[in-house]
Amino acid sequence: MKLAIAGKGGSGKTTFSGTMARLLARRGHRVIAIDGDSNPNLAVTLGIPLARMRDMPTLPNNLLRRTDDGVELSKTLEEISESHSLQGPDGVTLLVMANPQHAGTG
Ligand SMILES: Nc1ncnc2c1ncn2[C@@H]1O[C@H](COP(=O)(O)OP(=O)(O)OP(=O)(O)O)[C@@H](O)[C@H]1O
Ligand SMILES: [Mg+2]
Repeated sequence: MKLAIAGKGGSGKTTFSGTMARLLARRGHRVIAIDGDSNPNLAVTLGIPLARMRDMPTLPNNLLRRTDDGVELSKTLEEISESHSLQGPDGVTLLVMANPQHAGTG
């Protein structure tokens, strides 16, 4: 099952996503949570300390390549998870797309 959560700012997306991911993982499901927010904080809801989150490498921008049929991953999900994920205390695997450390020029 793939589930995307999007919606109005401050409507509870992160809280709902993290809680559901943890509950599913506790029930034995393999859960991969991808934080696509440009100001990511899903880790907190998953129970991952902020200090660990700061050390985490974000996903590189060369993961997708174009083919005649569309796009495909340039690495397997296992390879990506091995180098670019954190494990939460309930066993949720977290991937973070971007984590800007400071503002840049526009
Ligand atoms: N069901 C709920 N009842 C009451 N408060 C809630 C509920 N769900 C979330 N909140 C609170 O509402 C606030 C916003 O929640 P959350 O950060 O999950 O929203 P969000 O949609 O991810 O926000 P953003 O758009 O900033 O990413 C938080 O303070 C959270 O604790
Ligand atoms: Mg959020």
